[in-house]
Amino acid sequence: MRIAVAGATGNIGSLTVVALERRGHEVVRISRSTGVDLSTGEGLDAALAGVDAVVDAVNVEAADRAGSVDLFGRMTRTLLAAEAEAGVRHHVLLSIVGIDRVDGNPHYAGKREQERLVAEGPVPWTIVPATQFHDFAEMVVGWAERDGVATVAPLLVQPVAPRDVAEVLAEVAVGEPKGRHPHLAGPETQDLVDMARRTLRARGREVRLVPTWSGVFGPEMAGNVLLPDEGARIAPTTFEEWLVGSA
Ligand SMILES: NC(=O)c1ccc[n+]([C@@H]2O[C@H](COP(=O)([O-])OP(=O)(O)OC[C@H]3O[C@@H](n4cnc5c(N)ncnc54)[C@H](OP(=O)(O)O)[C@@H]3O)[C@@H](O)[C@H]2O)c1
Repeated sequence: MRIAVAGATGNIGSLTVVALERRGHEVVRISRSTGVDLSTGEGLDAALAGVDAVVDAVNVEAADRAGSVDLFGRMTRTLLAAEAEAGVRHHVLLSIVGIDRVDGNPHYAGKREQERLVAEGPVPWTIVPATQFHDFAEMVVGWAERDGVATVAPLLVQPVAPRDVAEVLAEVAVGEPKGRHPHLAGPETQDLVDMARRTLRARGREVRLVPTWSGVFGPEMAGNVLLPDEGARIAPTTFEEWLVGSA
């Protein structure tokens, strides 16, 4: 099959490209660095010629809720319209477990807008909601770190390996559209502060961590909000295995 990956140079997108090519599929890479801009549509029609399915693993950085909804919305509308025109038969969206349970941060608002547009859109779809990735704690520390100190919310998460997410996206993309895919999660629950501490230790970095609910994630994110439903698809790689492999 000919499959396009939007966000092909990103964390999950690049691994999805590898997973699809290993299965013998022809992959079209969509990102600004490959000459396709989803916020303007530049290069998109040519990229989608002859494409059977699209995996959307793009990400955007927006300062606030309105900006996130606007940018995710614009990119998704542009992509779906071009797919409909090109006769794409399956749109696969990578989303996040729990965004329907809390208002959350601006990113969640943008992801909900993406889900809404895909579910109401012209192309048959599958939405794959994943839990936080194993590198999530490192990313959160990166956002907050100032002078060797970082605030981190003690979120309860059930993180999943990026490579496992990519394998599932590749598998879903070559199958039939299924609507909502079961939640995708890793095998064990973790405390985000503990994940951050273990990741920093593995990287040989000294950062003092301050647990708090007054940073990016507030107390509405406490409890089981981010955990997968019963019936979730559980991917095999543990956080510890990933940590050893990523050292
Ligand atoms: N982090 C988590 O724990 C987690 C958990 C569940 C789900 N997710 C979801 O996973 C998705 C992928 O995340 P990620 O960390 O893999 O993303 P990432 O590494 O930040 O990669 C983002 C990709 O989007 C592309 N992109 C951005 N703007 C674009 C534009 N205007 N046109 C075309 N391409 C554009 C980037 O390429 P260029 O810069 O070259 O354009 C890049 O390839 C996100 O939607 C996120 O919500 C994340």
